Amino acid sequence: MVRGLLPLGAALLGATAVLADGPPKCTLDKKCPKEAPCCSQYGECGVGAYCLGGCDPRMSYSLDSCVPAPVCKDKVYKMDNLDRYKDISEYLGDSSKTDWVGQGEPLLYNGNVLLTMPPKSVGTVLSTTTYMWYGKVKARLKTSRGAGVVTAFILFSDVKDEIDYEFVGVDLQTAQTNYYFQGIPDYNNSGNITVSGNTYDEFHDYEIHWTPDEITWLVDGKVGRTKKRSETWNETLNQWDYPQTPSRVQLSIWPGGAETNAKGTIDWAGGPIDWDSDEIKNFGYYFATFSEVSVECYKTDTPPGTSKGKSYYYDDVRGTNDTVVDSNKRTTLKSLLGTGTDMDKGDTTSSGKPSSTSSVNAIPGGGSTPPNQVPGGSNPSSSDGSSSGSGSSGSSTCSSEGFQQHCGEDGSSSTDNKNDGARGVDRTLGASAFAVIVGFAGLLLL
Ligand SMILES: *[C@@H]1O[C@H](CO)[C@@H](O)[C@H](O)[C@H]1NC(C)=O
Ligand SMILES: *[C@@H]1O[C@H](CO)[C@@H](O)[C@H](O)[C@H]1NC(C)=O
Ligand SMILES: *[C@@H]1O[C@H](CO)[C@@H](O)[C@H](O)[C@H]1NC(C)=O
Ligand SMILES: *[C@@H]1O[C@H](CO)[C@@H](O)[C@H](O)[C@H]1NC(C)=O
Repeated sequence: MVRGLLPLGAALLGATAVLADGPPKCTLDKKCPKEAPCCSQYGECGVGAYCLGGCDPRMSYSLDSCVPAPVCKDKVYKMDNLDRYKDISEYLGDSSKTDWVGQGEPLLYNGNVLLTMPPKSVGTVLSTTTYMWYGKVKARLKTSRGAGVVTAFILFSDVKDEIDYEFVGVDLQTAQTNYYFQGIPDYNNSGNITVSGNTYDEFHDYEIHWTPDEITWLVDGKVGRTKKRSETWNETLNQWDYPQTPSRVQLSIWPGGAETNAKGTIDWAGGPIDWDSDEIKNFGYYFATFSEVSVECYKTDTPPGTSKGKSYYYDDVRGTNDTVVDSNKRTTLKSLLGTGTDMDKGDTTSSGKPSSTSSVNAIPGGGSTPPNQVPGGSNPSSSDGSSSGSGSSGSSTCSSEGFQQHCGEDGSSSTDNKNDGARGVDRTLGASAFAVIVGFAGLLLL
């Protein structure tokens, strides 16, 4: 999915002058350079937050560039406070103190957390700091509404396995579901579940039960869809095209109908977004309401999925279930200059001020503003209207291997140009420079 989003505008103009070109891009075929070794969820290279949640080991300089991922924790997250939420620019990997990291504008309202999307913004995304490797996750939520407004509740792994719920704001009776193996789009994987009543006015429980053999989507406790691993064998590649790696829970609201998005995305999202709608007039933003999220980890005596160690890491670029290691490796950085292979970099506790003046990007997408693509959900195929391409995954790379994403300025050469808008925005974003500045500011606070 591409989440195509809007330029950040004037706030970044000053910063943009510092670094004209944005962070280096990364794909399976083009790994990150040594000095900016971590490939973010959005397919860009950097240090610090780039090496934490979402860091794709397959596209990073080396497998250990990414910081190990905190292991699954059974927990009920009451969404009646933001005490254990941190903006991505303030988080260094300690999941014992922080439950959610995010970008955008989460707000507390009436004992719930609202994910908001003010006019012309790119919305808000929250991710758990721990990773679930099979298990059950349930979210009690009310969706947003309005043409072009998308609400998402997904599981998303660092190698872009994905299991989702997505809601488009023009159809308040349908929960769209989908799954992806390593972000590879398959137009046949989506499925709709009809929701009784309406998704905007009432809370409903949306649930994903995920085992090594089966994915079940349940709405209000009732099974709406099941997908078996046994149905996903890929004979060409001799593998299961089935989500199988540790995943963060991500909640988001994003403007599928932003004018910078490709037509297929806008159509799927229900048309162009109206920044002058009643919703905006009445509240000042579009919003989705989250009341509670609960995670129940899968437990086995032998890996995978013991949920017993501290962290997961990958020991092979294949990124399949057998390449995930249950380990006790450390998950924290000392500063946003750190990486998986230099976790203490920028440590100011012994030496006082950091001496480094590196100009590497440290926060994907820049500061508290979400990257121009928000994870979660799927893209519609512009031709047949069915869902395709993984949101985050699709957005993340100009990969040669199947995202059908066009990376140049000219959409005409793409078979599926839904991502063009996002790329265009990307170019004007200048987020990298902003990231540097925020990175240093963050450093001084530590
Ligand atoms: C999708 O389904 C159609 C019809 O069953 C089939 O012909 C096509 O090969 C499928 N596509 C993929 C990528 O599996
Ligand atoms: C799901 O519902 C949407 C309308 O909300 C429709 O456009 C889409 O084709 C449906 N997908 C499937 C797989 O039935
Ligand atoms: C197997 O994987 C390849 C590469 O992702 C893909 O192009 C192909 O459609 C897959 N085959 C099936 C039957 O899904
Ligand atoms: C990986 O998944 C396959 C299919 O579920 C399973 O047979 C195998 O035991 C798994 N391997 C590991 C190491 O988890």
